[in-house]
Amino acid sequence: MAEDIFTPLRVARAARIATDIHRFDLVSPDGAALPEFTGGAHLKVRTPNGLVRRYSLCSDPLDTGAYSIAVKREAGGAGGSVALCDTVKEGDTLPCTEPRNDFALKGSPVSRVFIAGGIGITPIMAMIAEIEGMGGAPWKLWYLTQSPGHTAFREELRAFGSKVVIHHDGGDPDQAFDLWPVLEQPKGRHVHCCGPRGLMQAVRDMTGHWPGSAVHFEDFGSAAKPRAEDAAFRVRLARSGEILEVPAGTTILDALRAAGHAIASSCETGTCGTCRTPLVSGVAEHRDLVLMEHEKAGFIMPCVSRAAAGCGELVLDP
Ligand code: FES
Repeated sequence: MAEDIFTPLRVARAARIATDIHRFDLVSPDGAALPEFTGGAHLKVRTPNGLVRRYSLCSDPLDTGAYSIAVKREAGGAGGSVALCDTVKEGDTLPCTEPRNDFALKGSPVSRVFIAGGIGITPIMAMIAEIEGMGGAPWKLWYLTQSPGHTAFREELRAFGSKVVIHHDGGDPDQAFDLWPVLEQPKGRHVHCCGPRGLMQAVRDMTGHWPGSAVHFEDFGSAAKPRAEDAAFRVRLARSGEILEVPAGTTILDALRAAGHAIASSCETGTCGTCRTPLVSGVAEHRDLVLMEHEKAGFIMPCVSRAAAGCGELVLDP
């Protein structure tokens, strides 16, 4: 991916809009219009403690006077969201990239199903605004949160009446909403899902019989994060026989690039499908949301997936 270029935006408004969720409205310091974006786009923000985080734009794409992001304060995280939520106030500037979209509204479906879990509502707010403002397929949103207090944009969504179903599980998995009746029959629809990894995996599992082009996910990097159990392994390139070491904490994609191999990528979170690579042999641990069950023996998404535990070598044909 091209190197990120950050330019400062001024915080026109900073407000807490739900439990542990803070909204920031960002404008150009000179009042100029901002670059256009489409629903589903995100930008990267350099936080006050120097970390880079990506946040979906939740504002109306027709409004280029300001961008809005909503940030969940993750007390157990690396500190980027805490620094944003606890220290950034109106009048401050935040270095931000231009918007980029890996989750855009695509195709011409009969209708669109939006499924949001918690802070995953943010890109979907902009997608709904885009459809409402510029026209588009009919839509319905299922928005799953812990409680009314944890539900951002409740008032805005109330205006859409029965097009929005909000379900609170009280933090109890036994109270989780059953999405199967929603997803059992594709009916020419597209589904767009953003939320915790478990929710997206459940939606992936329930849409295995949908056309792959009709199912869309947005992930903010949870699949790409190193895990404690990750171990080093080797990748052998089928044609050249070249062997690459992939240490824990390094993705196959990074290892291939470090060895001088140009591999196309986009999301680098296992959701877009750009980096799909033939898997010739070896057992992979698939961490993406792209591959269908029947594809997993023959392909891998090297931006997130690794060799399975006990498998020391994958043979790939990039
Ligand atoms: Fe998007 Fe790998 S770059 S799935």
